[in-house]
Order: sequence, then C-alpha cells, then structure tokens
Amino acid sequence: MIKRVILGIIACLTISSSTFADEGMWLPTLIKERIKEMRKMGFKLKAEDIYSSEKASLKDAVVQFGGGCTGEFVSEQGLLLTNHHCGYGSIQKLSSVEHDYLTYGYWAQSMAEELPVPGLTVSLLVSMEDVTERLAAGEKREDIIASATKGEGYRASIESIYYGNQHILYVYQTFRDVRLVGAPPSSIGKFGGDTDNWIWPRHTGDFSIFRVYADSNNQPADYSKENVPYRPKRHFKISTDGIKEGDFTMIYGFPGNTQEYVISDAVEYVANVSNPMKIALRTQRLETISAAQAKDPAVRIAYAAKHAGIANGWKKWQGESLGLERLGTVEKKKQYEAAFAEWAADKPQYASLLDSMRAAYATTTEGYFVRELFNETIGAIEAYSYARAAQSAIDRNAGDYFTLPKDYNIDIDRTIARQMIAEFMKRMPTKYIPEALRSGIKGSGSIDAYVDSLFNGTKILRQGPTALESLAGDPMLEFAKIFAPIVSHNSRYLYRNLSNVPSIEKWYRTYMQALREWDGNRAFYPDANFTLRVAYGTICGYENADGEYHTPLTTLDGIIAKDNPQIYDYDIPQELRDIYKNKEYGRWAIEKDGRTTVPVCFLASNHTSGGNSGSPVINGRGELVGINFDRTWRSTMSDIEFDPTICRNISVDIRYVLFVVDCIGGAEYLLKEVGVK
Ligand code: ARG
Ligand code: ASP
Repeated sequence: MIKRVILGIIACLTISSSTFADEGMWLPTLIKERIKEMRKMGFKLKAEDIYSSEKASLKDAVVQFGGGCTGEFVSEQGLLLTNHHCGYGSIQKLSSVEHDYLTYGYWAQSMAEELPVPGLTVSLLVSMEDVTERLAAGEKREDIIASATKGEGYRASIESIYYGNQHILYVYQTFRDVRLVGAPPSSIGKFGGDTDNWIWPRHTGDFSIFRVYADSNNQPADYSKENVPYRPKRHFKISTDGIKEGDFTMIYGFPGNTQEYVISDAVEYVANVSNPMKIALRTQRLETISAAQAKDPAVRIAYAAKHAGIANGWKKWQGESLGLERLGTVEKKKQYEAAFAEWAADKPQYASLLDSMRAAYATTTEGYFVRELFNETIGAIEAYSYARAAQSAIDRNAGDYFTLPKDYNIDIDRTIARQMIAEFMKRMPTKYIPEALRSGIKGSGSIDAYVDSLFNGTKILRQGPTALESLAGDPMLEFAKIFAPIVSHNSRYLYRNLSNVPSIEKWYRTYMQALREWDGNRAFYPDANFTLRVAYGTICGYENADGEYHTPLTTLDGIIAKDNPQIYDYDIPQELRDIYKNKEYGRWAIEKDGRTTVPVCFLASNHTSGGNSGSPVINGRGELVGINFDRTWRSTMSDIEFDPTICRNISVDIRYVLFVVDCIGGAEYLLKEVGVK
C-alpha cells in the first residue's frame, strides 16, 4: 500500500524488495553485494570495474582533494575536477589585487601556465582491507600501519565502522605538487552564493580544474619544474550525452559524517539542544559580519570566505532540525527502540542495553555540549585563536614574531567578542565558567568594558609583526589562558559526534550487533567517516511542497532570470549575458520545453554528505555526467535520517562545465585533452 502511494508521487525512485534503493553509502570492496540491484537500475559495469585490488578500476580515478573534498581524474595526464568551493582556498591563495582569479577566474592556456598551489595535496586510495581479524588476533595497529606504508608519499590509517565492530585499513598515496589549471569567475563558480546555498532550483557552476604532478617515476614529489603530469591508472571518460529523469547515477567519493543508527536521545540532542544553540549564536555573528560588509566593500571581500563558512553550517542545521521535525525522527526512533526493547527483554546480553545507552547519554551529553558551546562562543573570537597561536609559538620557542593574518577586522571581532562572551556567560553551565572570567568582567564593570580592556590593551591585534618577547602579560594572552581548564575538559570530547564519545560508543558496538539480529531485513551500511563510498540512485525531482514538484534540471535561462547587477550573488559576467543574447551556445545547446538553452545543474536521489563535494557523478556506463556539490534544503537531515522521497543531491552538469571552459575560458586544449573536441 504505502509503496504504491509513494510510487504515485515520484516515479523516478527505485524501490527494491525491502527498501528504497537510494539510501546508503557503501564500501566499494563490498559493492558486489549491491551490484544486482544497481544493474536493475541501469548500471552496465561489473563490481570489479568499481573496485579491484588487482587491476585498474574506477576507484583509481577518485581522490581525496585537500582536507575535506573529493575530486576525479578526467585525463591520462592527471587532469582533475572538483568544486569551485573546494578549490576556493587555493584560488584565493594564488590571487592578488593585480591577479584576482577569485573574481575573474583563471584559465591556463598551456601546461606552462598552470599555477602550483603550495600546501595543496591530493590523496589516492591505494588499497583497503578489513583488518578486524588481524586486530582480534593480537596484531598491533601501529605494526599494521607501518608495514602498509612502504612507498613514496604513503600514509595509512585504520578506521572503524559500525561503532568499532569492524576495522578497515586504508592506504593512501599523497601527491604534493598540485596546480591550478582553471577556475571560472566567482560569479559563475559561486553563482547564487549563500542565498542559493542548500537550495534548489540551483544555477551554480561549482567547478574548478587542477592537475596533479609527479616525478619522472610517476611518484609523489615536492613541487619542481622537472615534475611531469601524473599518469593515473584510470580516469573518467566524460559523457556529453546528458541526463534525463529516471537515469541511473552513481556517486563515488568521500562522505564525511553521518549517524543513521543513533537512538532517539542522540537525535533529540542534535535537534533540540545542539542545533538551536549553534544557529542562535551564528545568527548573531552573521548579522555582525553582514552589517560591516554592507558598509564597506573591502570588508565584504575580506570576510567573504569566513561568512560563507559560518553561514554554510548555520543554514544546514536549520534545514536539518526542520527535516527531523517533519519526519518525526525522534518519535519514530522511540517506537523503534520500544519494539527493540520488547524483543531484547528475554535476551540477557541485550535486555538492559538501551538503559545502559540512555544512562551513558545522561552522563556524557553535558560534557559534549560544553565543547560545542565553547567552540561557538569563545572559539569564535578570532583574537582568542590568535592569542593561542602566539602563546603556542612562545611555548614552542618557534620564531620571534606573531603576525596578524591579513583580512582581520578588529571592529567586527570586538563586537563578536562582546556578543559571544555574553552568550557564554548565559548558556554555559555554572561550574564550567572560569572564576577569572567572572572577576575580570566584574572588575571592568561590564562585559563590553572587559572586552574593550582586552582589545585596547593587547599588542597582537596590531598590523605588522609583534615581537613575541613583548607579549609577556599581554591581556589577550592572559584571557586565552583563562580557558585552559575548559580546553583540557574538551579534549576528552573530541569526537565526530556525541555518540562517538567512547563512554557512549562502546554500547553502540553491542547495539549494532543486536540490530543486525533483530532487524535482519534492514540494509546496514556503515556511517560516513570520510572514507571512499559508493552511493547510487537516479536522476529525480521531488515534491517540495504540496502540489509543487521540483523538476531535476536547470538551465541557463534560470541564470538569466536571476541575473541582477545590483545583487552581488546574482551578478553574472557580461560575457555570459552576451552569449545568452546571441544564443552562442555552440555544441552545448540543448532543447528543453521548446527552448534552446544550456543545461546547468541537476538533482538525483544519491545519498551524500559533507565531503562528497567534488564527487564524480557517473552514468550507467561509468562515464562522468556531473560533479556533485550540495543537497537541497529539505535533504539536510539525511545525515541522520535519509528520506528517499525528498532527499536529493545537487550536481553541476558536466555539459555546463564544458560550456564554461569552452565559451568563457576559451581553453580549447582542455576540451581536447578530455576527449570532447
Ligand atoms: N552547501 C554546500 C556544502 O556543504 C556548499 C557550500 C559552499 N557554498 C557556499 N555558498 N557557502 O559544502
Ligand atoms: N556541500 C557539501 C560538501 O562540501 C556536500 C553536502 O553536504 O551535500 O561536501
């Protein structure tokens, strides 16, 4: 019944025997268990084409880009695609007033013009292996890791899944010479900005292009003019055939963090405690920054990346809390737990499990909240971080000077410090409030006066280098020291989520085993942990509101409709206006609803998370049709509960990427290199 009703709503979803096919992020080594279903949905390749330990497979074409994104090879010469928002920091680093690549974009016209990005790395997965039994047999983690890391640039780690029930060894090879090849102007790569972030319909050309370089043996090396393009074992073939609703899609990438199996206590914490706190605090910070940005264009630029970073989480958490409420996740989980408890009642090993879990939450949650609250209040004061950096340089005897990072605005930070210290005093459980903070505020007469005494008295917030030896007794450094006890408290809570704190996580180990026994039909996939995963689904729209269906493809016409030179987020480059006016779409033109236009972004039902940005979106033949970069507003609770009827990931259509490279970048040699010219 239910299935038929849902089918009536959205026809492009795949429903398998027990569950929706679209949920899940699977280990590539175990994809053979899913391949039948994938093939039913339109996938034409075999499991070993996705992952093989013997021969080249698609996994060799997927990389971890920087510290938190995914990227993919698209040529045999190490050409790499990722998102603009993933390359943003690198593009910013290479930009100056004379060469403002962030604003105007950058297009190397030959390899000689590709720009090395100091510090940027790309990691390839060499192998993965389940080492649960080896660990159980007494082998030491360090030994396993040490014996796995023989080779230039190798690093390995053992990551646990299912809350420590299984342990997987990952071996990576990290490349250190990565160069910027191309980036669209921000008005394309970041089109829609924070306004459209987490939103559909979307029109962002969120891509940038890099190239990995290696030494003459194809091994990682520090930057050198002698280095040559890396030759990947495998790269993606690009398909310019396009996509349509119902088509199979697969996402291959590095999702960062999900918690699908947590009990209601954990969801309540996220939805009712953590998210509201973080949202409220960030609302204040964003208002402060936005007001300063509105007054001064230089501040708008200087704080653009900071604003985007703060706003990204702020907006996501709002969508997430709303989504959890709409789905009634807490209530559903409670019912699930009640049914579980009934089953477990006569099983000694499980009978008191839920009680133990609840007791663990009761004793652990406050400590975790303290860490989160501290990060969002005191931790949000830039001067606090600088004071800690200066103090650490003094303690480590590292260097002679502290240099204030450029783009710092003391007025913004002072206002934020006033707001955040006030919030800290208001929200922090009394026993965690340092006495020295209380007396400092009291001595100054008010929080504002106290903050002024810090900001007026410190030397570290002056432009130019400050001698470290002049900082003895500096009020900002003294302020930072006040929080040493709370920082040390927090160090015991440095885990991905509340449920991963060891005092709680240990119970989940048993809970996961019990769930597998009790709820045998459920498809268990490990929570995301920034390791390589496969998600598959279909190109699919969704019902955004009663009677309001969102179709899965946007076009250039939508960009033109939003275009407005008065609105920063919607002010497109003149070239794009001209191209539209003259309909100079070349081979990138498509017909849609009787119009000639260019495809821009599309929706699919793949289960993705933060970290999947930049992931290749692959069609049934294993060809690249897009680059994943976001989810819709109503999807953001998918990190806790994935609802196949409305959860959608957002990708930039590869045809739009090529159109921009071709018609805006004029980088024809790149089109040749990826085999589309
Ligand atoms: N929401 C996407 C993700 O979580 C994109 C963020 C970058 N874009 C932005 N306007 N801040 O990373
Ligand atoms: N935008 C995210 C990222 O940067 C992807 C997501 O959360 O859907 O990884």
